[in-house]
Amino acid sequence: MIIAIDGPAASGKGTIARRLAAHFGLPHLDTGLLYRATARVLLDEGSRLDDVDKAVSAARGLALLDFDEERLRGREMGEAASVVAAIPEVRAALIDMQRVFAARPQGAVLDGRDIGTVIAPAAQVKIFVTASAETRAQRRALELRGRGERVDYASILEDIRKRDQRDSERSDAPLKPAEDAKILDTTDLNIEAAFAAALAMVDAAGPRL
Ligand code: CDP
Repeated sequence: MIIAIDGPAASGKGTIARRLAAHFGLPHLDTGLLYRATARVLLDEGSRLDDVDKAVSAARGLALLDFDEERLRGREMGEAASVVAAIPEVRAALIDMQRVFAARPQGAVLDGRDIGTVIAPAAQVKIFVTASAETRAQRRALELRGRGERVDYASILEDIRKRDQRDSERSDAPLKPAEDAKILDTTDLNIEAAFAAALAMVDAAGPRL
């Protein structure tokens, strides 16, 4: 069974994907980390984020890198990731490894922006997780403060809106629900309630393959 979880920044998709993976004993790939790690390589080597050749070699070289999650999860890397993620050649360089992950015999859970539309269009379960921009900004501000970053709500809300726009308007694999995705709005749901709703969607998809 392939479970595809997509949605905008701080919608709760990562938490839901992790919880579903643990529940069903499936491997989980947070595909945002691939774009964050690509951006990190460019920033570390002093390259511009829009240098296509450098960005493609950074994406291709990722298997060799240690995914140092702590730094990748920071605010700067989320913004930088959405810039490199708009480069079609970077997306192309990362498709194979995501498809190989999705094709594991026991199945997999992947979360990102284009899992149900591009990476695994045949996924048995597709959930598009969303929430109001204000709620997402509150969650992201709490998360970043928990990581020790000094952030204010207003600028995080602005980041979220900018990122939604960049991710939705890019030409290649824009952020949008697959036609057969179920929409899960978590604006008024806590983690437990959101997970329960996602689980019900998986169960409604029928017997697991
Ligand atoms: O947790 P959050 O949604 O803020 O970030 P993320 O999922 O780690 O994604 C960071 C950025 O990577 C997004 O804003 C997208 O531009 C990009 N991304 C993408 O284009 N396609 C994916 N499958 C996953 C992430």
